[in-house]
Amino acid sequence: MIKIALISGITGQDGSFLAELLLSKGYDVHGIIRRASTFNTQRLNNIYQDPHIPDHKLTLHYGDVSDPLSIDQIIQKVKPDEIYHLGAQSHVKVSFELPAYTAQVDAFGTLNMLEAMRKHCPNAKFYNAATSELFGAALETPQTETTPFNPRSPYGCAKLYAYTITKIYREAYGLFAVNGILFNHESERRGSTFVTAKIVNGLHDYLTNRKPFYLGNVYAKRDWGYAKEYVEAMYLMLQQEKPEDFVIGTGETHTIKEFIDECLLYIKENYRLDTPRFQWKKNEQGREILWDQLFNSLIIGIDENYYRPAEVDLLLADPTKAKEKLRWEPKITFKELVKIMMYYRLYNGKI
Ligand code: NAP
Ligand code: GDD
Repeated sequence: MIKIALISGITGQDGSFLAELLLSKGYDVHGIIRRASTFNTQRLNNIYQDPHIPDHKLTLHYGDVSDPLSIDQIIQKVKPDEIYHLGAQSHVKVSFELPAYTAQVDAFGTLNMLEAMRKHCPNAKFYNAATSELFGAALETPQTETTPFNPRSPYGCAKLYAYTITKIYREAYGLFAVNGILFNHESERRGSTFVTAKIVNGLHDYLTNRKPFYLGNVYAKRDWGYAKEYVEAMYLMLQQEKPEDFVIGTGETHTIKEFIDECLLYIKENYRLDTPRFQWKKNEQGREILWDQLFNSLIIGIDENYYRPAEVDLLLADPTKAKEKLRWEPKITFKELVKIMMYYRLYNGKI
């Protein structure tokens, strides 16, 4: 029998990779999209077929996770076997500017999804997109499924509600509802305001038109993996006999500055440029900036506006449980991730 999956956040980085994966496995895939004044389905371009083609397996429904009525109607109509709840205001810095909105979408949006599932399809399986931001100012390193949470942002706080309500619906109502505690994952589809995409786009733009760009704290450390591999872990979590939460990450951490240095290495090897001309040096405020010695011009400056009111300094996953129970392991290395993103930017256009 053909399985039916419903994905909230299908137009996002992860949602689009997950839709591709599920379609390749023969699922009938449904996605929730928001009405926008411009096209917001670019990431689905290669899988969005004409709905009039007979074996069309991708259907999009207008809705918003913060609107319980729309979610109730969609879940009642689609009656999915598996629900992947990825829809969220996913930007940490923005959550400091929009804390109430972030709570409405990320916290109550999850409740709306769970309630509709409890009412219309209690035997379905539910995946909640939890996050390493829950660890915040981490109380132990590396972080596992048992590390206490200590969020540092309105986003982390809203996601803590979402994590907890998912666990409560599992324990109180016996729903198959799980949390994937995913560490940062990037790709050629990463939103352009997240730091890795911003760096890749920014360096490319500097090389083509010598326009500098600005970052905030370049010393924070992140455990960065490749998004396409992470959606496989989401799928695997819903194929288990028992509903359980899993940490998904690489077990390797790097500063933002190291990510930039890795991009410079890629440029050196692939753009035939003499990159020693790119040097880190200190500005008048003692902040490190990236400088082009050849043209005596700024490449990456520091702008206080990109600093966060509270920072998460260090994230590092221990994905042992996922390795043992899901047989999931990341294969793409840090170097390869940079290569994928830089290559895409060079030959396909903006990320
Ligand atoms: P993303 O690219 O920012 O995508 C977010 C998706 O959510 C988009 O499709 C967006 O729609 C949708 N959305 C936003 N607000 C919504 C609302 N009110 N109702 C319905 N849909 C809404 O994020 P991502 O990187 O794919 O991440 C997917 C999920 O995993 C998010 O919940 C995120 O918080 C979580 N997560 C991400 C990471 C990571 O490193 N990527 C790590 C841990 C957890 P539009 O296209 O219309 O904006
Ligand atoms: N976005 C951004 N822009 N971040 C910057 C910048 C900048 O100009 N300069 C420095 N950073 C630093 C941030 O302060 C943070 O320490 C780090 O780069 C990563 O920032 P993001 O790429 O925005 O990701 P994030 O770690 O805050 O959040 C992402 O990962 C979470 C999982 O840990 C998002 O995908 C979240 O949705 C996800 O839950």
